[in-house]
Amino acid sequence: FEKPSLRTRVSFEVSMAHLRGHAIYLGPNDVGLGTREAVPDVAASLSRWVDIISARVYRHSTVEQLAEHATIPVINALSDREHPIQAFADLLTLQEFCGPLGNGLKLAYVGDGNNVLHALLLACAKMGVNLSAACPNGYFPDEAYIQEARRLAAVSGARIEILSQPEEVVRDADAVYTDVWASMGQEAEREQRAKLFAPYQLNATLLAHAKPNAIAMHCLPAHRGEEITDEVMERHKASILEQAENRLHTQKALLLLIIGL
Ligand code: CP
Ligand code: NVA
Repeated sequence: FEKPSLRTRVSFEVSMAHLRGHAIYLGPNDVGLGTREAVPDVAASLSRWVDIISARVYRHSTVEQLAEHATIPVINALSDREHPIQAFADLLTLQEFCGPLGNGLKLAYVGDGNNVLHALLLACAKMGVNLSAACPNGYFPDEAYIQEARRLAAVSGARIEILSQPEEVVRDADAVYTDVWASMGQEAEREQRAKLFAPYQLNATLLAHAKPNAIAMHCLPAHRGEEITDEVMERHKASILEQAENRLHTQKALLLLIIGL
């Protein structure tokens, strides 16, 4: 882990304990990925001791390099570009609260076009979930993810749209998702982003445009009063905490799949 974590670290460690395996946590000061030791060398040594690497990194290229040089599976536990294991838990939560995936199910996302949205774009497009996202101009998701999502959506039948008006994307949504406005590594931009992103706050007024029983979603950690109000967090803690819990179940499934048991 090059970055902090609560959910990812704990859910992986608990997953390994449940599966009668063992997890070793290596924090930012332990390895010195790419500084104390070159990434390919770290990947090669780890491959001689353990069965899986789960890496949370700043640069996406670091996790790609680990995957290229390791002889064991590597899981992206969040990079500046993607957060795929979060998307697994999100889709399970959506299914639990809103019904089978596909079937015209609509997920709205408001806020930053970041790693979490990139992963949701790919996951929703693949699973046939309609995804409408509203991001401020200049903070849209990367074009490569939009294109890949459109390609997957052409197969699954999902509708993918990226707009800039929050009310427009939230209309008739089954679930409304948001994430922090300044991700880990962007702390210096927090104040400037807070002003620009204010119209994208997930509050009761915005949520009123969604379906009457729509759920709110957040990958956490949340900055209450910024991207989501205290009121929405409290009222929708059932779905938001289910997302956190589902990290455990989906990661256990992923580990079993990878190990091939
Ligand atoms: N959602 C998520 O990945 O949380 P952590 O950063 O606490 O792991
Ligand atoms: N977009 C956030 C997600 C945290 C789980 C970040 O990268 O900090």
